[in-house]
Amino acid sequence: MTDEIHIPQASPVLGYIAHRDEIDAAVAGVLARGRYVLGAETEAFEAEFAAYVGVRFGVGVGSGTDALHLALWACNVGSGDEVITVSHTAVATVAAIRLRGAVPVLVDVDPETLCMDPALVERAVTPRTRVILPVHLYGHSVDLDPILSVARRHGIRVVEDCAQSHGARYKGRRTGAHGDFGCFSFYPTKNLGAIGDGGMLVTDDPALHERVRLLREYGWQRRYVSVIEGTNSRLDELQAAILRVKLRYLDEDNAKRSSHAADYNRLIDAPALRLPTVAAWAEHSFHQYVVRSSQRDELAAFLRKRGVATLVHYPVPVHLQPGYSSSHVNAGGLAVTERAASEVLSLPMYPELTEEQLECVAHAITEWNGF
Ligand SMILES: Cc1ncc(COP(=O)(O)O)c(C=O)c1O
Repeated sequence: MTDEIHIPQASPVLGYIAHRDEIDAAVAGVLARGRYVLGAETEAFEAEFAAYVGVRFGVGVGSGTDALHLALWACNVGSGDEVITVSHTAVATVAAIRLRGAVPVLVDVDPETLCMDPALVERAVTPRTRVILPVHLYGHSVDLDPILSVARRHGIRVVEDCAQSHGARYKGRRTGAHGDFGCFSFYPTKNLGAIGDGGMLVTDDPALHERVRLLREYGWQRRYVSVIEGTNSRLDELQAAILRVKLRYLDEDNAKRSSHAADYNRLIDAPALRLPTVAAWAEHSFHQYVVRSSQRDELAAFLRKRGVATLVHYPVPVHLQPGYSSSHVNAGGLAVTERAASEVLSLPMYPELTEEQLECVAHAITEWNGF
């Protein structure tokens, strides 16, 4: 027995190695051209990524957190306004709301998908609600139609957190194309990952597009002319050039993730474990393959001894994080969220996983279940 890891939970370096020649050439091109921020690569990538999602406009920014923050800013969310979202998510989702000085109103998640429970949204709406912010967690889309209809009825904007759902679809259309904004992260481990930080907002609304374009660079309409207040959050040319290469392989990589998920489903023989399901409306992009067990920590320790790394997304819900515990409204109890936090376990998942590795993980879990 050894604690040496031979199957990582994620491996961004393999994504680089798989396309090394093209990425190296793209990087060399940027270095030689000498335009390093907001140039031709970023512009081309914004257009290509927006087209991939199926909307007209993209705005490259510094991170997924910035994309959410700028989307809320563009929707005029300010101090004391309310934004309805979930607690079973990356802290970043709620952090973006707090950056606006707004109040996160947290609703519970659906026990099957672990995404925002649409049945709970309408009763969380108040006169101060400005935005509903559903999170397509793990690459599985939220059931958006009931949420969009609540938003329409109350004149509220919808901002989709797509940080984990590049390429995933809801009822045939890609996530990010349904709400007023789709917000993406290109953190290295994401399905479309940069070699550093990066993010993008996509939208079909020309006015929102223009507003975000101004907000990301000091409110500049043109250089040195600030027509509104803004910030600095720009996707750099190196990241854009690398992401343009990787975007060409995103569908292929997502298909590999789906195939790995099907292999896990087939190979894991552990009735004590709950495997992920895919709702009828969803085309899952398997950013994570998440199993659930009341003995999650024991399973993780057992796998570690077999050289298999796992992660927990997320061990502490945002409303229980010391830094965020006093700033939110808990809209009607978060029992499913709190239970999920104690049960979820993300198995190794990345396109380059081999058949042998998948079998190794599945057999180890099957063996654990037998004890
Ligand atoms: C659901 C979710 N939202 C937002 C973010 C924030 O993205 P970033 O790390 O690029 O700021 C992440 C990624 O960490 C995420 O997983």
